[in-house]
Amino acid sequence: MTDQSPQAQVESARKAFEQEFERFSHFTGDPSTFATIDLETAVGAERALAELRTRHLGKKSALAATKKLIGRVAPEERAGFGQLVQATEGKLVELLDQAEQNLKTHIEAARTARESIDVTMPGRRPRSGHRHPITLLRERLEDVFVALGYAIEDDREIETDFYNFDALNIPENHPARAWQDTFYTTQGFALRSQTSTVQIHAMQRRGVPVRMIAPGRVFRRDTPDPTHNPMFFQVEGLCVDRGITMAHLKGTVAEFLRRMFGADTVTRFRPSYFPFTEPSAEFDFSCFKCKGSGCRICKNSGWIELGGSGMVHPNVLRAVGVDPQEFSGFAFGLGIDRMCALMYELDDIRLLFENDVRFLEKFG
Ligand code: FA5
Repeated sequence: MTDQSPQAQVESARKAFEQEFERFSHFTGDPSTFATIDLETAVGAERALAELRTRHLGKKSALAATKKLIGRVAPEERAGFGQLVQATEGKLVELLDQAEQNLKTHIEAARTARESIDVTMPGRRPRSGHRHPITLLRERLEDVFVALGYAIEDDREIETDFYNFDALNIPENHPARAWQDTFYTTQGFALRSQTSTVQIHAMQRRGVPVRMIAPGRVFRRDTPDPTHNPMFFQVEGLCVDRGITMAHLKGTVAEFLRRMFGADTVTRFRPSYFPFTEPSAEFDFSCFKCKGSGCRICKNSGWIELGGSGMVHPNVLRAVGVDPQEFSGFAFGLGIDRMCALMYELDDIRLLFENDVRFLEKFG
């Protein structure tokens, strides 16, 4: 209880309200004075105003309490007192309503501005990746051979000795096993050291005649250097049919290289040795950069060595139950990584596997 007169109590309630309302008073004026306040601040002010309303106009407010004091007012002053309470209450309500309305308008405008999309703004382009240079080259190789009527074969990278060596005419203790030494799993499986393993799977699966290429990953116990990696990619080619001769091999490889490097590309074959082909030959092509006159890429020889080839050894045909009296075929294989390095003039094939995005981005 207070010994203030009822009128004085109304006055105190008004003053208390005004004191607290002071910091919101600008919301009742010209909206341009608070146009810059952000959405979060405006929402906070709206909430604070609602609390202020409850405190000063609610059932438990000081102003509401004055309404019960009418009995303490002299009868002739009662009407005046009633008007005072009403007028005071009306003023408070008016100020609060005005501030709240202005804030509401401001908040709505701020929300619309935040949510609206300016369709004239340039979009933010997502950074898109691209395929690895080896994949890009593999796809080009595949396109050339598909156009020549070859199927594409994919096969396992973990092999038994039979597929990696025996069926390819590399019996145990053959020196080629050391030259193509690979990695073994603890159960004695070999990580394939060449894609020639797919020749065997393809003939077992498809039978003959067959015409296929097999691009894929291979493994060897080679120490990394600018032209070697322990893991690299090869592509194998195989064509078996009745009456296939060395002329078909030469024609196919020459056509493949013309389609890859241009119509004036010249191919040459040099005698070589592979256990699974007889006769065997390595093939080179005229340098795509200097056209044979000699440059850094071809080490001034005018020629680029690319891969191995030959006529499928009769023992390989026999290993898959094909009669070498009836069928003959040719096969070839080349390293995709070294070809990729040549084409992009890279000095070191290890760059292709360092996963340096700055380097890989150049191939996008
Ligand atoms: C072979 O692997 C034979 N399978 C190719 C073949 C297939 C001959 C069909 C006859 C018939 P070679 O070991 O030469 O051949 O390897 C072929 C190519 O693989 C090489 O020319 C070279 O480009 C690439 N190569 C070999 N070792 C590595 C290595 N450690 N790192 C990167 N590329 C390699």
